[in-house]
Amino acid sequence: MEKNTKKDTVILAIESSCDETSIAVVVNGNKVLSNAIYTQIDIHKEFGGVVPEVASRHHIAKITYVLEQALKEANVTMNDIDEIAVTQTPGLIGSLMVGINTAKTLALCYNKKITYVNHIHGHIYANAIESNFEFPLLALVVSGGHTELVLMKDHFDFEILGETLDDAVGEAYDKVARVVEVGYPGGPILDKMARLGKPVYPLPHIKLGKDSYDFSFSGLKSAVINLHNKTKAKGEELNYNDLACSFQNAVIDVLSEKTVRAALEYNAKMVIIAGGVSANSALREKIKQEMEKLNIKFNVPSFKYCTDNAAMIGAAAYFQNLSGR
Ligand code: KG4
Ligand code: ZN
Repeated sequence: MEKNTKKDTVILAIESSCDETSIAVVVNGNKVLSNAIYTQIDIHKEFGGVVPEVASRHHIAKITYVLEQALKEANVTMNDIDEIAVTQTPGLIGSLMVGINTAKTLALCYNKKITYVNHIHGHIYANAIESNFEFPLLALVVSGGHTELVLMKDHFDFEILGETLDDAVGEAYDKVARVVEVGYPGGPILDKMARLGKPVYPLPHIKLGKDSYDFSFSGLKSAVINLHNKTKAKGEELNYNDLACSFQNAVIDVLSEKTVRAALEYNAKMVIIAGGVSANSALREKIKQEMEKLNIKFNVPSFKYCTDNAAMIGAAAYFQNLSGR
């Protein structure tokens, strides 16, 4: 591989925090030469959720193949790699260990430095692959394990303005989908169904007071599940596309109201969405429209960088090192 300038930094990034084994080669934080992903979704489908022990075993079985694929697609060898980046936390401990041990082994064999990256920072920096950050920046983080509003005044300077007090948004999607038996993972399935429905069922839009940036989704989740159970017990029919639409409508109303209010209060120059739920079509559209009205720069990652992937870890590692934090 020929480097453009001596300053190019080629990072081999590894992500294995949950049920995706991913390795990417990223130059200077935004040029993605490869982003190989092996997903275990089909394996965990059968259990209706990720089984940690099963996940770590599959990471072990696949990670060397994913490494080969990432290097091949990027047309590089380990000699072209300047640094290794790996997801350190949060995630399933056994799964994280597979990625970390792979990074340590490669670092030892090829004499490379390792940068340890927080998975949520990775989701945020997925946005840096296709856009330039402008500060103050407001990040709406919505994944399977996290729901947060994060204010950034500079690279790698994170202030959590609010977070969920109970379920994360993705978790609420997945739990609702499991109870109404529409499949796994719930987010993309309910998103598709919602597009075919109308928001006719009255469900709680829980905002926790007009000044709060915290979230709560367990009451909404329980309301959907109760409606499903009661209707079933009465032998009546529910329109599940309408139910999905009503649920999604409540989620997006809460997320967008708080994002808009925080963007205004903190004079955000840019708003981004991060995490698996950023793949949600209605959420992307709603926040985009709101930011257009306010004339605030907006970015959401391309679909391939929304859910877990190693390219975002490579992007985060680059900016983490640059910031010296
Ligand atoms: O970020 P991610 O890949 O993993 C975690 O770090 O948690 O997020 C996975 C979550 C799952 O809960 C999944 O149901 C949700 O993101 N998700 C979606 C959509 N695509 C994925 N939720 C709503 N709409 C979608 N289109
Ligand atoms: Zn994630």
